[in-house]
Parts: sequence; structure tokens; C-alpha cells
Amino acid sequence: MDLSNFFSADEARIDRWRQMNATARAWESAVAQGKNDDKFYAEAVRLYAEIKPLEDYWAYPGPRLMATVGEVLEERNAGAFARIVQKISNALLTGSYRYENAAWDPMQEEEGRVPDVLPPDIQPGEAHKPYFEVLIATPADPSTWERGRNGLKRLRRPEDSFNYEVVQVGSFEDALLGTIFNHSVQAVVIYDGFQFRSRHDLPLVREFLQRHLSIDPASIAPGVLATTLARMIKNIRPELDVYLLTDREVEKLAGSAEAAQIRRIFHNVEEVMEVHLSVLDGVSERYDTPFFSNLKKYAQRPVGTFHALPIARGKSVFRSNWIRDMGQFYGTNLFLAESSATTGGLDSLLEPTGNIKKMQDLAARAFGAKRAYLATNGTSTSNKIVVQAICKPGDIVIVDRNCHKSHHYGFVLTGAQPYYVEAYPLTQYSMYGAVPLRTIKKALLNCKAGGKLDRVKVVDMTNCTFDGHMYNPKRLMEECLAIKPDLIFLWDEAWFGFARFNPFHRRRTAMGAAAALTARYRDPAYRDEYEAFAAKAGTLDPKNAKLLDMHLLPDPDKVRIRVYQTNSTHKSMSALRQGSMILVWDEDFQEVEGPFEEAFFTHTSTSPNQQIIASLDVARRQMELEGYELTMKMTELSLKLRREINKHPLISKYFHIATPEEMIPAGFRSSGLKDYGPPHSNWKDAIEAFDRDEFALDPTRLTLICGTAGFDGTQFKNLLADRFDIQINKTSRNSILVQTNINNTRSDAALLIKVLADLSREIEAGLAEGGKHEQEIFGPV
Ligand SMILES: Cc1ncc(COP(=O)(O)O)c(C=O)c1O
Repeated sequence: MDLSNFFSADEARIDRWRQMNATARAWESAVAQGKNDDKFYAEAVRLYAEIKPLEDYWAYPGPRLMATVGEVLEERNAGAFARIVQKISNALLTGSYRYENAAWDPMQEEEGRVPDVLPPDIQPGEAHKPYFEVLIATPADPSTWERGRNGLKRLRRPEDSFNYEVVQVGSFEDALLGTIFNHSVQAVVIYDGFQFRSRHDLPLVREFLQRHLSIDPASIAPGVLATTLARMIKNIRPELDVYLLTDREVEKLAGSAEAAQIRRIFHNVEEVMEVHLSVLDGVSERYDTPFFSNLKKYAQRPVGTFHALPIARGKSVFRSNWIRDMGQFYGTNLFLAESSATTGGLDSLLEPTGNIKKMQDLAARAFGAKRAYLATNGTSTSNKIVVQAICKPGDIVIVDRNCHKSHHYGFVLTGAQPYYVEAYPLTQYSMYGAVPLRTIKKALLNCKAGGKLDRVKVVDMTNCTFDGHMYNPKRLMEECLAIKPDLIFLWDEAWFGFARFNPFHRRRTAMGAAAALTARYRDPAYRDEYEAFAAKAGTLDPKNAKLLDMHLLPDPDKVRIRVYQTNSTHKSMSALRQGSMILVWDEDFQEVEGPFEEAFFTHTSTSPNQQIIASLDVARRQMELEGYELTMKMTELSLKLRREINKHPLISKYFHIATPEEMIPAGFRSSGLKDYGPPHSNWKDAIEAFDRDEFALDPTRLTLICGTAGFDGTQFKNLLADRFDIQINKTSRNSILVQTNINNTRSDAALLIKVLADLSREIEAGLAEGGKHEQEIFGPV
């Protein structure tokens, strides 16, 4: 365990506490029996030394409890050590420190309230207030930190909607690590004047910062250090609120570009009450669900309905002789919240002016788009809407032949002409990858050579593919825009909506790329880069084959950023089935707005489902507040599955998870990254591969090869469903796709590994009985 492990720090520390708990109990029992306790004591000291630096980044257990643990360890008091370590590790495991004051006090027993883990209709009592942590970067001497924490605590009032605790750090590096490790952080308060270096040894982090900070940390003036930190934090977790307290000229700073990412700037470090209220206000802005909250209010009103939808209010169900079980199964609220009205606190999806309009604005903010639209009939509909909005009859769309069928239907409806381009094949698994940039450039240059470039309107790709091939949208759009600067891009990110919410996947998203390219082309340094390129490349002659291998750059005076993304919110976030979004970053949207509206009307039901709309609102709230935690954990879980299965001495004889090396040919993987995790790579290598390579493999989509165990994909999928209640979506001739998502837990991972181990044992036993002949047929054993 070291501080460089980004994904697993949170869970790894809880694991370490459980380990320390077990050691403490063994130590206590050795002492009670009068046995030699040296071994246990040494183990406790080792674990404590390992945990201690990590705990700088979390509010709980915090300095006070950690000091108590340190003291009893120093006194070699096994009983007290066991008691306090058990208390902390239980509080961490159940999350009780979020609502039990006693968890923070070494001397008090917890009341043992039930954590919020059961479905709400089964869970006893009121739900606990949402809890979060505030990271404070401060130059103050650590001996004063406790006073600062207590000062903020005194401002709490029972009517506050949320509870929060504070974590203090004293350096730039620690503030960045706190932001990365601590998923509970929702706001960062920066007091100007802190130092750069952490007191911990962080070689990997330093190397990374050196490469990604355009300025030398040693020479950054204190004020600039604070705004640089704010910028880096927003880069990693854009949803966080960042506040700055400084004694610089705040009036000047407030209007400057360097402060653009900061939510509020305060002059004078004494504005504690303002900071406290701003922090709560910032979180409640993300918590706000305008449509869902109104729908809940609507459901409580005694509304009489004299129009369609008899199911609304539930009377036709609850009073029925024959369908009461429907009411019982779905519960009262579903019916009370059903309505065909667009007034009375509700809004119209087709022509939103109230809370759905607001909800769209919040979704655009959350997903890093300029605009967002909601669809209640899946991304199948979203794709048709976008295609119809941006294409006219005769327009050419360069499109992946393996795209979802909704794109083809969109072309048929609009009279657009597809120019099909082919993905690279993965014949060993009977599947395809993604479309190489070279192929797309060739298509564009062919059109140019044939005098048809003006008709090419759109490049339409699936990112990521079903099997997890992620494009490099930044590079792809840049090079295509060099050939045609006003091209529109439609990125079907049906499976990839979650990707916005962690810095690894975000680098490969359409909206992430749109933002990065917009900033790049506005930067005066880009102009120099472009001019050097233009002098070398000259006019782009479509017959010049060298263009295919050259990194082409667009003219900053001509380029337009026009990017559309569709995502099945229901596929990767907590939205009901068919909940989908269209994200727009189009500098020329005014040209499209009219047709877009018509296309939206064409494909949207005039009776959109209220519950799907509400669930989109709630899914957005969840992702803005815990999307980082959920997507980081899901990535970590998939990395664990990859590691456990491929390294397991028995399972790996018959099953295997395809690695990036196997899923992406070397020509598209210039970083040379072979697999995730040691011994092949660390997080820094993965980021660099994500930045550089033409394609990268989404680690959360696992192609499990089962052909080597004697199963074809469909057979294996059915076996998993019938015998083990494990559901799988897609199969190929010799593989199944195991997809992790924000719903999965470590228990799910354990179930899959156990099933594979059981099956491997069965195969092994079968082969032993079958003798040499069967073993020879089987091959790899
Ligand atoms: C790439 C892609 N695009 C679009 C869709 C359609 O999405 P939805 O099921 O939300 O209509 C799918 C569905 O599987 C898909 O795989």
C-alpha cells in the first residue's frame, strides 16, 4: 500500500483497519493468556505506521482519535488499543461516523443506529442527513488546526440540510492527494500562502506534477500557487466547489482569468460564517432536483383529474377488484406521481419553460456541455433526433458501419447518405474494434478529391464501443477539423455517460474533448504551433498519402467546435430504463436550434413518462455528488477482477480477461501499455496511455474468454444465468462481456470469482476422469 495508488486508497485503508482490528484482538488475547506478545505488538506498530500518513486525507478518524491510537500503542496497552481500533474500524465500515457523534469520541459508546443500506421501505427510522467533507488547504501551523475545525463546527445548526466535517492539509501536493483520495470531499477551501511540498514521500505524484504543471513548482509565488491548485482540482473533479481566502487584492483577482474556476473569493481569513454558508449553499445547488422535487410536491396534493391517464392518483387500481396487486407491488407514490399534466408545478418536456428547463441547465453543467436535452425513449431516439437536426437530404455522414441501428434509421428519415467506414477486426474473438483515424481521414480526403467535401457534414462514431474501445476524441476531431473545419461530430456514448465523472475516463469523452479543443485553439501558443505545421504541410492535397500519417492541425481562424453526444443515462447511471440525454457543445447551435426542435418533436412522445424524467434529474444529482466515488470504485473493482482472474492459478488455466494488449493492436497503442496494474503499469502510465494512444480499453468492460474452458459465449451466458443467477449482456463466439457499473459491489466480484473457481474445478475433475484422450482434445491444460 502506498500513497500512489489512486483507485484503491479509500478501500485499502478500510481493509488495513480491519487487519489492524484482527491483529489487536490477537494481541489482546495473547496478553490475557500471559503469552509472548512481541509478534502482535510489532505487527500493530507496522500497520499503524502504514495507516497513519493516509489518514491525513480523511476527516475520520481524524487527528484526535489517531493520537489516542498512537498513545495506547506507545504505552503497549493491548486492551485499550483493541477497543479503540475496533471502534474506528467498525465506524469506517458502516459509515456510522457520518451521523453518530459518539464515533468521534474515544470514550463514548455508539448508539448503534442502523446505517442507510437497506431499501427505504424496510429501513427503520428517518434517513440520516447527507454527509460530506470539506478539504481545507492552509498555511496555518498544524497546532492551530483543531481550533479551526471547532470554529466551523460551532456554526452548525439543526436546520442545516447537510452535515460536514473538515480535513486540513498544509501543502499543494497534499491538497491534490486529498481531492483524489477522499471521495467524500465536496468543497475545497484554499487559504492563500501554503507550501508546495508534502511531508510525505511521493515520487510518482511529483513526476506526474512535473509533467503536467506548466510552471516550476519551486518558483510559483504563493498567490499563484493557490489559483494553480484551484485549476488542478477543477481539472480532476470539476463538480467540486473551490473557495479562496486571500489577503491579496481580491477585487482585481475576482475578475481575472486565473480565478474563473473559483466559486467565491473572500478577503480576510476571518469570514468563517460566510465560508460555512457558501459551502452548504454550493452543495445544495448540486443536490437540487427541480423536477423531481416538484413531482414529489405534486404527488402530495389532492389533485382531481378530469383528463386521460386514469392510473394517475391510483384510484382505478387501489379500488379494483382485480388489479390491487399492481398497487401493492409498485406502492402508492408511483400512482400519485403519475400525471399527464404539464402545469400545476410540472413542466412540458417538449416545450420546457419551468423546472424541466432548469433541469436541462443543471444537466449541461454536470456533464460539461453547453446544452442538454432529455429523452424518455432511449438513446435510440436521441440519435435519431441529432441526426435529423444536423443533416439535410444529400448530406454525407462518415459513420462506423457497426453503429447502432438508430443511426441508420436517422439517415433513412433525413435522406442523409452514409459513407461507411470499417472498424478494425478482432478475429480471434469474433468481434470488431473501433474505426482507425487513418480510415476516417482517408474517407474525408477521398471526398475532397472527388469534390464532395462540402457535402460531408458529420463524422459519427460510437465511443466507447460495446466491448470497451475508447476513441481519442480530441485527436480524432483535431485531425478531421484540419481537413474540414466546420465538421459536426456525433459521438454515440450510449455506454459511456458515467465517464464524465472521473479524470481517467473523462479524457476520452466527447464533451471533455470539446472543452479541451476550445481552450487549445484560443491559446495564442496554438497559433504558433499551427503556423509551423501549415508551413510544413502546405495546402492539404488529398492525393498526398503522407497526410494519413501526419498529425494534422486545423486553422484556428476557421475551426468551429461542433460536438453532439448522446448517452443512455439508464445504461450507466441511476435512471429508469429509456432515460437518455443529448449533450451539445456547438458553437453554431443557432443554425441548428430550429431543426433540432422539430426533430425533438418528431421523435418525442407527447406523453413522456414523468418518472423517467424525474429519474434523469436524480441521476444527475447523484453523479454531481458521488459520481467520482462511484466511478472510481467501479474502476477499481474491475481492475481487481482483471487481476484476480488472470493471476488465479486455477481459474487462469481455463478463463482469461482480455487485456488492452489483446484488445488493441500495437499500432494503435503507441504507449506500449500492455495491461492495467503491476507489473505492467501504474496509474501514471494509464493516464499517459489514455492521453496518447489512438485507442484505449475501458477497464470496466471485461471480455472474459471462455472458449478455452470449452464454452461458446452463448452457452456460457446461459450457464451463468441458469445455474448461478449471473446476468450477462453480450457474447461472442468464445467470450462473454462482463460489464461493471456503479451498482456493483465487492460481493458481486467475489461471486463471479467463486463461480469461475467452481467451474474450473469441475472442468479439472472432468478432465481427470476423461483421461489422456480428453485432456489432449482440451488442448491448453
Ligand atoms: C452504441 C449504442 N447506441 C445506442 C443504443 C440505444 O440506446 P437505448 O437502449 O438507450 O435506446 C445502444 C443500445 O444498446 C447502443 O449500444
